[in-house]
Amino acid sequence: MAAPFTTHHLLVILSVLAACSIVSNAQLSSNFYDKTCPNLQSIVLSTMKQAVINEPRMGASILRLFFHDCFVNGCDGSILLDDTATFTGEKSAGPNKNSARGFNVIDTIKSNVEASCNDTVSCADILALAARDGVVLLGGPSWTVALGRRDATTASQSAANNQIPSPFSDLSTLTSMFSAKGLTARDLTALSGAHTIGQAQCQFFKNRIYNETNIDPSFATSRKVNCPFTGGNTNLAPLETLTPARFDNNYYRDLVAKRGLLHSDQVLFNGGSQDGLVRSYSANNGGVAFFSDFAAAMVKMGNISPLTGSSGEIRKNCRVVN
Ligand code: HEM
Ligand SMILES: *[C@@H]1O[C@H](CO)[C@@H](O)[C@H](O)[C@H]1NC(C)=O
Ligand SMILES: *[C@@H]1O[C@H](CO)[C@@H](O)[C@H](O)[C@H]1NC(C)=O
Repeated sequence: MAAPFTTHHLLVILSVLAACSIVSNAQLSSNFYDKTCPNLQSIVLSTMKQAVINEPRMGASILRLFFHDCFVNGCDGSILLDDTATFTGEKSAGPNKNSARGFNVIDTIKSNVEASCNDTVSCADILALAARDGVVLLGGPSWTVALGRRDATTASQSAANNQIPSPFSDLSTLTSMFSAKGLTARDLTALSGAHTIGQAQCQFFKNRIYNETNIDPSFATSRKVNCPFTGGNTNLAPLETLTPARFDNNYYRDLVAKRGLLHSDQVLFNGGSQDGLVRSYSANNGGVAFFSDFAAAMVKMGNISPLTGSSGEIRKNCRVVN
């Protein structure tokens, strides 16, 4: 005889459904453009290859754009919209202004894609593919990108200001901001490994190198050279000390050595809940687990509330609503 359907069963089903609605969407699929734009993936990859040869940091910049897109009302290309006289979008929000970069590369990919299959592929999907390719080109893991996202016709500066974590955040703030997007503390720690590539401005780590105590003193001294106590706010330093143009597990070695550049990096290894995971990712063979957790977390992040079906639009120009 079948077990009776109890309230307990219902709660289990409802909680599974709730989890799925945040972290996955059955309407996205890896073969979404197979018929309508069969060369899409090779067009994105070849354009990204050129961009990363021109400037390796571009792989990092595009990865960050995707994070900032997905954390603000889902992965809907909203970060790509330019401000106009009558529209204030996300580019001029605090976390993006004079900081987010790589928009020209997305424009180039979009125009190459349009030349081959016009009016078909969303800017949101182009960004998802380009972020993956940037990681691969810098030596990181690959993953299958589910496709079928559509582009937002709006953007939200206030959501960009409130929902993208600040580099001055503590661990509890980071975990709750990631949890609000359906991402676990493990996802947070794996995704923060993106800081194995790219650069940060002095203004975001000045307080850390001059005022914090959980920092390797010789690392602090060396970072002060190009980040003076007064001024120099836009001067750059690599987020990871050894191989900032290579996607590897050295970020976690930095954290274990108290050489995290941002406050929000070092909180992942400062006597809290993520210490063990950071230590395991930092081990000689820890890169394997990091790569597979990073790839899985990128898929989850890429599934944050996409627009699908007839919602949104396929933008002709990633910078403007049709
Ligand atoms: C955990 C919370 C996070 C905080 C507080 C944070 C904060 C920052 C800050 C302040 C910068 C430097 C920006 C500048 O100086 O202009 C940066 C750079 C970067 N972030 Fe994050 N980030 C976080 C998570 C992530 C995630 C989840 C990813 C991607 C999966 C990511 C990818 C990057 C990359 C690749 C760069 C370098 C960009 C470049 O060189 O252009 N970050 N982040
Ligand atoms: C798309 O391409 C088709 C065929 O080449 C052309 O007829 C059409 O005008 C193009 N549409 C746009 C919006 O460029
Ligand atoms: C260090 O902390 C002091 C006291 O909170 C503050 O006034 C100062 O601006 C901080 N220094 C930097 C470089 O942030």
